Amino acid sequence: MMTKNLETTAQAMVATGKGILAADESFPTIGKRFKHIGIESTEENRRAYRDMLFTTPNLGEFVSGVILFDETLRQSSADGAPFAKVLENGGMIPGIKVDAGAKPMAGFDGEKITEGLDGLRDRLAEYREMGARFTKWRAVITIDDGLPTTYNVEANAHALARYAALSQEAGLVPIVEPEVLMDADNTIGRCEEVTEEALNSVFQHLYRHRIHLEGMCLKPNMVVSGKKCPEQAGVQEVAEATVRCLRRSVPGSVPGIVFLSGGQSAQEATAHLNAMNALGTHPWELSFSFGRALQAPALDAWSGNAENVDAAQKVFYHRAKCNGAARFGKYDDKMEKAA
Ligand code: 13P
Repeated sequence: MMTKNLETTAQAMVATGKGILAADESFPTIGKRFKHIGIESTEENRRAYRDMLFTTPNLGEFVSGVILFDETLRQSSADGAPFAKVLENGGMIPGIKVDAGAKPMAGFDGEKITEGLDGLRDRLAEYREMGARFTKWRAVITIDDGLPTTYNVEANAHALARYAALSQEAGLVPIVEPEVLMDADNTIGRCEEVTEEALNSVFQHLYRHRIHLEGMCLKPNMVVSGKKCPEQAGVQEVAEATVRCLRRSVPGSVPGIVFLSGGQSAQEATAHLNAMNALGTHPWELSFSFGRALQAPALDAWSGNAENVDAAQKVFYHRAKCNGAARFGKYDDKMEKAA
């Protein structure tokens, strides 16, 4: 039965001690990351970089699945095996980002709405055929004076729910990602308030769109102080506020919550996830779906040079291992120093 398959995949995505690697950077985003290390964003460089990540020995110990970008799902490893196969052989589930990006919302200055619903049913069928087993759609909520507006939150929740319904129809587990941005000067309290509002709206729309909650994952931001806020909340405060906010707004039937890192440093993101899992047992698995917080150290170590592949894979494996430990609340600084 379709719902049974969705449940099995969703549970595998948040398997004990594992989490998801988000490697689904769009062309502009990967361009920005490559610029930082001084290399050009060519198709071959993008392929070589992802090849380095996905062929890291024993990555499957800590990584349950990988979110790919359209181009990457069509690419292959240096030995000719398509990336979806490479991941499967390593015990990881291939997934795919299916939104077409967050664009300015007409009439709503400073706010964004995510595009990509038109033709989505056909694209999902193709992705499934190519080996994808789950999908991701990211909505962006901006905090500012008077923002977010109620209608922007609702419009994004509605699009997320329409996407999730189509994804489940295609037998693909949706990762529903409403991201409240963390780059403003707001307090952690304001982040908690906005995150709770966004999650409430998302689950209302998911309910109305008849989403099978046992066959999805939620990818939220953590509840943190805005980057430009002079008062930065500590690790314990972030963990407590995030768990409180999620308990108020996420049904216990959802198998897993896989956080985005959203611009936190690699070590911060791991420490936050660790502190949340150390708080005790929760209704859902609390896991990761980090992009930058998993990749940044490995990207620097690689720097576009084939001679650095082994070193970069070691750095990447270490980061995945630290986050695997954070799934049990068993990460600490000593793990970083030992590496
Ligand atoms: P970050 O962890 O870098 O925020 O990326 C996760 C992601 O997939 C955002 O959509």
